[in-house]
Amino acid sequence: MMDRRDFLKNIAMLGAGTAFLASPWLSAFADVKETAKEKCRLAVIGPGSRGQFLMSFLVQNPNVEIVALHDIYDKSIEAALKLVPKAKVYADYRKLLEDKSIDAVVIATPLNTHFQIAMDAFDAGKHVFCEKSIGYTMEQCYKMYMKHRETGKIFFTGQQRLFDPRYIKAMEMIHAGTFGSINAIRTFWYRNADWRRYCPKPELEKLINWRLYKESSRGLMTELACHQLQIGSWALQKLPEKVCGHGAITYWKDGREVYDNIHCMYVFDDGVKMTFDSVISNKFYGLEEQIMGNLGTVEPEKGKYYFEDVAPAPAFLQLINDWENKVFESLPFAGTSWAPETANENKGEYITGERPKTDGTSLLLDAFVEAVITQKQPARIAEEGYYASMLCLLGHQALEEERTLYFPDAFKIDYLNHQSIKTEKP
Ligand SMILES: NC(=O)c1ccc[n+]([C@@H]2O[C@H](COP(=O)([O-])OP(=O)(O)OC[C@H]3O[C@@H](n4cnc5c(N)ncnc54)[C@H](O)[C@@H]3O)[C@@H](O)[C@H]2O)c1
Repeated sequence: MMDRRDFLKNIAMLGAGTAFLASPWLSAFADVKETAKEKCRLAVIGPGSRGQFLMSFLVQNPNVEIVALHDIYDKSIEAALKLVPKAKVYADYRKLLEDKSIDAVVIATPLNTHFQIAMDAFDAGKHVFCEKSIGYTMEQCYKMYMKHRETGKIFFTGQQRLFDPRYIKAMEMIHAGTFGSINAIRTFWYRNADWRRYCPKPELEKLINWRLYKESSRGLMTELACHQLQIGSWALQKLPEKVCGHGAITYWKDGREVYDNIHCMYVFDDGVKMTFDSVISNKFYGLEEQIMGNLGTVEPEKGKYYFEDVAPAPAFLQLINDWENKVFESLPFAGTSWAPETANENKGEYITGERPKTDGTSLLLDAFVEAVITQKQPARIAEEGYYASMLCLLGHQALEEERTLYFPDAFKIDYLNHQSIKTEKP
């Protein structure tokens, strides 16, 4: 786990001023010394797979006490109690919310249940960390965001890349113009697995495999695209205007209702495009966001960047390239003008020297705890989460309706100019 002081030191080495400009929510750590002795009393609602993962970091934070749990599945509660044996278990989350000693809730239930729990939690005066995607519909996301603004309670979403040193540094370089003008962003997430979980009894299928059914999930869009689409708006500092695409079930025809094969294209006002592809029957390319400028490309997931102009490949590599592309077959009339473009042999440079030990999750949680204790909502963090969820839901709708959809004006919020709100101490 990366300590937040190490993290800040790292960021300082990268150039704190510019890093804060590209990622203003890093201000969450500004009051670390002041809060060292204060505690945040937390409840976890839905401590399943992700919830327990989050708890594994939270229990290491000396400023956190996980005091309460709620889940509708006994096995999840049993597993969670191993991490926090003294936590009080509530059978009804509304009763949990009545407990005045609880400052904040972490919501890690399936997508279709986030909205009601989060709205009730805000109404009960709790600060909220809600896993992504935040809502099952765009209207729900909007209402959740507005409720956060109305109540002034802290609102974080499970977008851990916002605290990932590779992404923070990549964004700083992009905003400094290192890769020139960004005209294309390709994002993809490939897996070769059915996405199913072991289900001990048929009546538990919809609870355990909620990701595969339309009533509880929007499939690959809300589960995977949500992380990657946010990278595009973070890089370009604006939102796409419209989206179109296609989704289908082409391989896992096992009774699931959500697509296993998706291609979406988001278009910005100036024609710049961001694509999201996901197929879960081939994992060769893994996952990545390829942010492409006229001077270079950055791949934050891999943690690397590549400049367009590099020293020419050694002669033997060029020979292999030419051979692979069968240039020789056409030699008699060959002019290089029609020889196929070959992929760049450039192996690139690492963004942060070595591969960071964190994907941002522990730091995101630390920042949430810090925000709850200081009662300060870091700038733009809720907005990034809001738009990440909105973009994947808009994309999902475009796939379902097989048409181009524009981002609805009614759901636009002030994205870039949003400063941190100082909330009132209770
Ligand atoms: N940020 C990330 O990288 C990341 C990764 C994985 C999952 N997630 C998100 O975390 C959330 C949970 O995913 P998961 O993989 O942990 O699912 P999961 O099925 O393992 O866990 C969900 C838990 O919620 C419980 N639950 C279901 N309905 C409930 C209800 N109405 N009230 C209370 N508890 C209920 C289940 O019993 C289970 O314990 C999803 O929103 C998912 O998108 C985020």
